[in-house]
Amino acid sequence: MIDPNRKITVHHIGDEHKELLYKLAEEHGTPLFIVDHQQIEKQYSEFTTRLPNVQAYYAVKANPDPEIIKTLFDAGASFDVSTMKEFNLVYENIKDMPEKERLDWIKNNIIVANTIKPVEMLEELDKYGPLLTFDNAEELKKIKAHAPHSGLILRIRVPNTGSLSELSSKFGADPSNAVNLITEAYVMGLTVEGLSFHVGSQCVNFENYIVALEMCSGILKEYYARTGQKMRILDIGGGFPVKYNNSVKSIRALAVLFNEELKRLFPPDILVIAEPGRFIVANACVLVSKVIGKAVRDGKTCYYINDGIYGTYSGLVFDHISYPILSFKESEETKLSSVFGPTCDAFDTLTLSAELPDLRIGDFVYTENIGAYSSASATLFNGCEPAKVLHINIDRRSID
Ligand SMILES: Cc1ncc(COP(=O)(O)O)c(C=O)c1O
Repeated sequence: MIDPNRKITVHHIGDEHKELLYKLAEEHGTPLFIVDHQQIEKQYSEFTTRLPNVQAYYAVKANPDPEIIKTLFDAGASFDVSTMKEFNLVYENIKDMPEKERLDWIKNNIIVANTIKPVEMLEELDKYGPLLTFDNAEELKKIKAHAPHSGLILRIRVPNTGSLSELSSKFGADPSNAVNLITEAYVMGLTVEGLSFHVGSQCVNFENYIVALEMCSGILKEYYARTGQKMRILDIGGGFPVKYNNSVKSIRALAVLFNEELKRLFPPDILVIAEPGRFIVANACVLVSKVIGKAVRDGKTCYYINDGIYGTYSGLVFDHISYPILSFKESEETKLSSVFGPTCDAFDTLTLSAELPDLRIGDFVYTENIGAYSSASATLFNGCEPAKVLHINIDRRSID
């Protein structure tokens, strides 16, 4: 039995680690989704070190695995949840706190960042009074009727230019209407505590952040000019990019920009929060799959592996990302090959252009940096079981 606490890393797999991953796959079976908790802690620490004045709320939607939530909870993270199910995954970690402490923790550490919430969810949440985002007048009416004890954050629409996942067509109030909406909430007896935005996931165009910060600063100034009131919170959302390849600028550069702009545009006493998802988990996970079939079609080699687009590779569809599929086998000679998932659907195509050595049935292949928006959106289509999850570098207990 390989010790799951052993210090190995799945981030940028080198030869020595490849060997270990191979052994893990042999031992535990495939498809195997390996989660490196040390890397998650490292990412969280990098985020909070680079942005020391920003409170990080992990966006649970990126990967809702309870063990990931526990690791981040232990590291001191706050959480962005979208549904009651996500809320309850976080709640598991605080359920034994004394009531007052638990309620305070929820108020200070959970944000419900889905601007559209069902009435039933609002009713359940009201007793906890967490921060809720909203972006329209109808939602305000629902909140007033079903969750009037919540703190409110108005999400505004900001440019998502060049981001991998665009969100601004679905969410965000028109900035020119922001102060009207805040005033409407006030008239209803609700308090808007701050502003939020999302620049789109995997935002490689840092200008989006700059424009969004300027928009928020303008709204806060207009609000103050019209009402004499200030807001307490600025939520800079998610979008922090992962270095899937070398063309992606590092968070270091983004953090320098942020720290300067926050200082320039906002009062020092404003509470700045963020909702990073992808940045925390993407490069902490690797998937190992097995070749289960091989054919030659129109002269091209086609491999069939035991995880696919309906499973852990669902990010190909929902996250608009393409994942390199790599071989453990070292060979000078490679061929342009196709790789398909295990289902009966031709849509289950992972790539038509993988450079792979000659693989045999039973050989393993792997994909790095697959921790975000992958297993989270996997289905059970065609009776295919989800990949087995193996947690490594986790020291609270052994998990098989
Ligand atoms: C409201 C909200 N916050 C945070 C996130 C996390 O974004 P990311 O994974 O890009 O950091 C998302 C992702 O869709 C989101 O919709």
